[in-house]
Amino acid sequence: MRTVATFGDVRKGDRGSVALVPTMGYLHEGHLDLISAARRSSDTVVVSLFVNPLQFNEDVDLAAYPKDLARDAALVEQAGADMLFAPPIEEMYSELPLTSITVAGVGDLMEGDHRPGHFDGVAIVVAKLLAGIQPDRAYFGRKDAQQLVLVTRLGADLSFPVEIIGRPTIRERDGLALSSRNINLSEAERGAALSLSAGLAAAASAVEEGETEGATLEEIARARVEAEPGAHLEYVTLASQADASALPTLEVPAFLAVAARVGTTRLMDTVHIDRVDGTWVPDLGSRLDRPSILYGEA
Ligand code: PAJ
Repeated sequence: MRTVATFGDVRKGDRGSVALVPTMGYLHEGHLDLISAARRSSDTVVVSLFVNPLQFNEDVDLAAYPKDLARDAALVEQAGADMLFAPPIEEMYSELPLTSITVAGVGDLMEGDHRPGHFDGVAIVVAKLLAGIQPDRAYFGRKDAQQLVLVTRLGADLSFPVEIIGRPTIRERDGLALSSRNINLSEAERGAALSLSAGLAAAASAVEEGETEGATLEEIARARVEAEPGAHLEYVTLASQADASALPTLEVPAFLAVAARVGTTRLMDTVHIDRVDGTWVPDLGSRLDRPSILYGEA
């Protein structure tokens, strides 16, 4: 496994088929699942690690974002990747880009509504990674459902010769979706954070029982989060997997997304809902059977 700092070095040599896993580091089993899937698909696996300042709309969030390059490099190696692309800021933004990319509509609601500028920052960094690394496949988590829609449209709209692949959410043993930000939660906050996954699980059960009204599903999830004094709900929205527009009823493949603040940490979670043999089937992803590597030795 090699750690490289420039796009030129990533592209060097005969790489065969290339899979990219973009990350902001402080890796957990969600990232490792993306790397394993990439490893199974391609000759060369590149993991990128760049905490992209342009997608942070709050300086405190950027400052609190956990960083440990040595830990991440060891995990990337163990996971079987070939390269860790960890560029310095000058490689990515020697000058602030004058080009902007807005994926119209897709970024308006939910995260877009609550984090002004966030998705334009994601769009520009993902476009730069796709252009600079030239992967055949790129792997993203379904947890960040709206981001996955955005990246899929960006790839298609700009004709990047890349296949965008979404993977299910990996959760802690009690259901909390893995997130690098989880390490900033106190014990009490961690308890409050569970209301997000509990709310989505309750909505998922309602889907299994045949509920298709968006407002009802949203209300089920909202009630669980609002019952938790330590969690401050930002939104809960049923949206289309195709374009992230809000859905009044479940009639196309969808996701139910929830975001809340717990203390100073902002968390989000998602359940995807797909139609399988004519029935709506929720997919909450899978749970670890041991504590996450976030809390232990790499
Ligand atoms: P980051 O939050 O580091 O996430 C990197 C990738 O891991 C994303 O595709 C995200 O959806 C996925 N991921 C996060 N938590 C997951 C979980 N619990 N289960 C499965 N996958 C999970 O998302 C970003 O970074 C950035 O916005 C990025 C795309 C790298 C652009 O800067």
